[in-house]
Amino acid sequence: MRDSLVRKEEKVLVGEFWTAKQRQAHKIHYTVSYRAAFKPELPSFFIKEFLKKKKSTILDPFGGRGTTAIQANLDGHFAVHNDINPLSIFLAKSRQRIPDVQNLEKVLNSLDLSQKVEEETIDKDLLHFYHKKTLNEIKNLKRLYENDKSPEMSYIYLTALSRLHGHSTGFFSVYTFPQLSIPPLAQKKNNEKRGEFPEYREIKSRILKKMKKDLSDPLPPFYHEFARHNLYTHGTSYDMKNVGSSTVDLVVTSPPFLDKVDYRADNWLKSWFLGIRNEETKGMAILHTPEQWESFIEKTLTECARVMKKNAYLVMEVGDVKHGSGVLNLDDLVVRAAEKSSLVWEKTYINAQKFTKLSNCWNVSNNEKGTNSNRCVVFKNRK
Ligand SMILES: C[S@@+](CC[C@H](N)C(=O)[O-])C[C@H]1O[C@@H](n2cnc3c(N)ncnc32)[C@H](O)[C@@H]1O
Repeated sequence: MRDSLVRKEEKVLVGEFWTAKQRQAHKIHYTVSYRAAFKPELPSFFIKEFLKKKKSTILDPFGGRGTTAIQANLDGHFAVHNDINPLSIFLAKSRQRIPDVQNLEKVLNSLDLSQKVEEETIDKDLLHFYHKKTLNEIKNLKRLYENDKSPEMSYIYLTALSRLHGHSTGFFSVYTFPQLSIPPLAQKKNNEKRGEFPEYREIKSRILKKMKKDLSDPLPPFYHEFARHNLYTHGTSYDMKNVGSSTVDLVVTSPPFLDKVDYRADNWLKSWFLGIRNEETKGMAILHTPEQWESFIEKTLTECARVMKKNAYLVMEVGDVKHGSGVLNLDDLVVRAAEKSSLVWEKTYINAQKFTKLSNCWNVSNNEKGTNSNRCVVFKNRK
């Protein structure tokens, strides 16, 4: 470790490697918001930097909303998307096959969302977000999707999920946060403070409007040719049983930061909509100490080295986090965590944009939960 720190300065590259202007990447990335997702420009940059051949295989062991997988397909590569949260698997897989908008509209129009649905205990929580009639439509859609997982219904469901909560009238809910679902009682208090209560929001027209917007950007003609070979695996990053040894050409990923984001609590509304039970997200990393975090990353890097081909690259994006009274550079921990594996640290990229603050390049903002800057640590597999 000491050696690597001595050489650190030479290996850290600071520059404007990519620009992440608002919405310059394909709109399909933005169908749904997800906490701590990285900008598509990040995987796009490293794919161009480290893959000389098309039709390569790119893995993200912490796949999140599928940024790496989608960018891989848009750039003419195959993807392996892994995550411990079934929500993440749904977010990525529902964009494996993207039907055309005319078909989607036809299927959406044919759905009867008006049947009276039975009341449940959870309704008292949900009614802080939705008008009774809106909730009834949402529940009808939930019931219909349970029996029809066709690409059309999956894409409609994904779009509905993206409209579940947010701050404009394009969402199904009263004014609330778009990226995380706050607890029902917190929403109740917010409503009271704002003097706003859920009004009826018809859901079909909102789904259609959003689908039309996201699909207004044509996909490259080869997108599905690659996406149909993608592999989606649900499990922990350090035991990717279904991913074969020496099969991956590039890994681009961003792990959960030290106890900064509680993906389970933050996504409770989306999880309810998808029928995800708590026990299905067991094993999700909430790591409280740097030692726990480093050991988790060490196991993950060893597993990544197993599935990577010889000389393949791995890029891990991490931030600096506040810890106690100081700042912890997670990239130092990542470099040390790789020491027992066949991964050799090559360099660390810090992307700095000229006209915006560094933090603006990333979805995790500067002050949010103490994250200050982000670095991409690059390794080569020497096995
Ligand atoms: C920083 S986010 C990744 C965001 C992703 N780069 C994107 O653009 O959407 C970290 C992800 O790690 C997942 N995760 C947490 N613990 C995990 C584990 N033990 N194994 C695999 N994934 C895990 C979370 O569900 C979350 O989706």
